[in-house]
Amino acid sequence: MSISRIGLNVIENSKNDFGLYIHIPFCESKCEYCSFVSMVGTASDKKRYFSDLVAEIKIQSHKFRKNCSISSVYIGGGTPSSMDYYYIRDLLSSVFKNFPVKNTAEITIEVNPNTVDKNKIREYILAGVNRFSIGLQSTNPKILKAMGRTHKVADFEKTVKIIREFGIKNISADVIIGYPKQKMSDIKETMQYLIKMEIPHISTYMLQVENGTKLKSMVDNGMIGLPDDDDVIDMYKYVCTVLANENYNRYELSNFAKENFESQHNKIYWSRKNYLGIGLAAHSYINGIRFSNTENIVEYAELLEEKGELPVASSKALNPDERKEEFIMLSLRTKTGLDLEAYKEEFGESLLTKKKDIIAKMIKAEYIILTKDNKLVCTTDGYLVLNQIILELVS
Ligand SMILES: C[S@@+](CC[C@H](N)C(=O)[O-])C[C@H]1O[C@@H](n2cnc3c(N)ncnc32)[C@H](O)[C@@H]1O
Ligand code: SF4
Repeated sequence: MSISRIGLNVIENSKNDFGLYIHIPFCESKCEYCSFVSMVGTASDKKRYFSDLVAEIKIQSHKFRKNCSISSVYIGGGTPSSMDYYYIRDLLSSVFKNFPVKNTAEITIEVNPNTVDKNKIREYILAGVNRFSIGLQSTNPKILKAMGRTHKVADFEKTVKIIREFGIKNISADVIIGYPKQKMSDIKETMQYLIKMEIPHISTYMLQVENGTKLKSMVDNGMIGLPDDDDVIDMYKYVCTVLANENYNRYELSNFAKENFESQHNKIYWSRKNYLGIGLAAHSYINGIRFSNTENIVEYAELLEEKGELPVASSKALNPDERKEEFIMLSLRTKTGLDLEAYKEEFGESLLTKKKDIIAKMIKAEYIILTKDNKLVCTTDGYLVLNQIILELVS
């Protein structure tokens, strides 16, 4: 069975491609490790929030619609799939009404495995969704429980099956590595499972112990211990090797994809292209200016409803040093690497000359390689000390 989206306001080509990110800050419960802006929320919170999102879309569309065309839409969270389907349907309908969206646009929704059924997925696809990013995190039930996840591995499998029944192949799975009590055998099992399931895109995030999370207080109180750094490094190296053997391309530090399944939306972020963020705490980057929305849901609502104003909390035009830093930081995460010619063209200086000794030292240590077409590309060992590399290149 295959269905396609209908009645969309789309355009073929454009000069100024934008990515559009829409934040849905509601989850069924809060995971122990998560510091994303998300909350459980009441039915009336949700209703009000979606009406505010549409108001924000309308204001932003007046500013940008004439000069942009949307090449990617990403509905992230929180858990967008925890919402009743009609919220997502109406949200996408408002996007298509207010922005010119390319007919080739990648349209992703983040899904938690136990929050969808056949009807929801059908509605998402009819509304325009063509890519699903599913948070699996682990295949070990004990670790899922410790994380505060409310789904089982079987829920993931069921979700994938339904999505595929509708003819959608573009599926991604999120996995966390380095969680307390997680062992190499767990990572092996999770990777083998995803390979067997033929999931074409896998994101593996190394655990960040974030301030304000339950996990952080448990670690600080000594109630729970983290795996050794060396063990986490071995887990990451295993992931890289096993996925490379299965023809997944590591196109970014944490992201692995089969041919033609790289996330177009993520690539917008890493290549410093324009993206507009809508919703609570959403970030935007447009023509060298970064801005971000308030993280306070009451303020978000009041600004839009009472003043008809954008809920922007901070805005900054990046100075040349900040732009250089971003260039280095983002490009080194990717497989394409840091293009030395492009850097010279944009900043009028040669990074290779300026950081000659440091770059030579890093090449010797096999943290980076200098390709024939003048790009600095991180090796696996380099990725493991990426922050240090960035620090040395920007200082
Ligand atoms: C926006 S979040 C959550 C999306 C969705 N609600 C879910 O839980 O699957 C996207 C991904 O970030 C990762 N993530 C969240 N918090 C993390 C942390 N503290 N450390 C590492 N990865 C994290 C998880 O893999 C998660 O799936
Ligand atoms: S990881 Fe996902 S489901 Fe869990 S609290 Fe964060 S956003 Fe919500």
